[in-house]
Amino acid sequence: MELVAMRRSFKLLSLLLVLNVIQGCSEPPQDTEKSRAFLTQRALSLAPTDPEIAEIYTRTCRSCHSTGASAAPLTGDLANWKPRLEKGMDVLVENAINGFQGMPPLGLCFECSPEQFEQLIVFMATAE
Ligand code: HEC
Repeated sequence: MELVAMRRSFKLLSLLLVLNVIQGCSEPPQDTEKSRAFLTQRALSLAPTDPEIAEIYTRTCRSCHSTGASAAPLTGDLANWKPRLEKGMDVLVENAINGFQGMPPLGLCFECSPEQFEQLIVFMATAE
């Protein structure tokens, strides 16, 4: 009698395990190309709420920071911006002004103040 009960619970357990595996398989695969496309699509749709910053962003940073073709960290790609933010805002503003590797000095905004650079960076690094 006890053995039957044990067999039954074993069957139930195996069924649960199988279901678990099936469920695991139905999760979407980690497709980096797909998530890159998703991030690019989203970067294109994001804009700062402040109209003045939005105008500057559209005219300057956006041309590189919203296109998947560029090595620039995408607007709203929080994982890419995280280690950059860890350098500190002062360093990021300085790098935006002086240029940093593929990033040209001033990022095409020749009239931007350091405060505006900071606003642009905060927007790109935190937009969701
Ligand atoms: C011509 C293309 C281009 C434009 C325009 C541009 N960027 Fe960039 N930016 C880049 C690239 C490429 C990188 C990545 C550099 C790297 O990490 O190698 C970058 C990186 C950055 C970084 C990160 C620097 C770091 O220390 O990690 C900041 C901040 C930044 N850009 C701010 C801006 C701002 C603000 C604007 C608009 C005023 C702007 N960028 C416009 C290409 C551009």
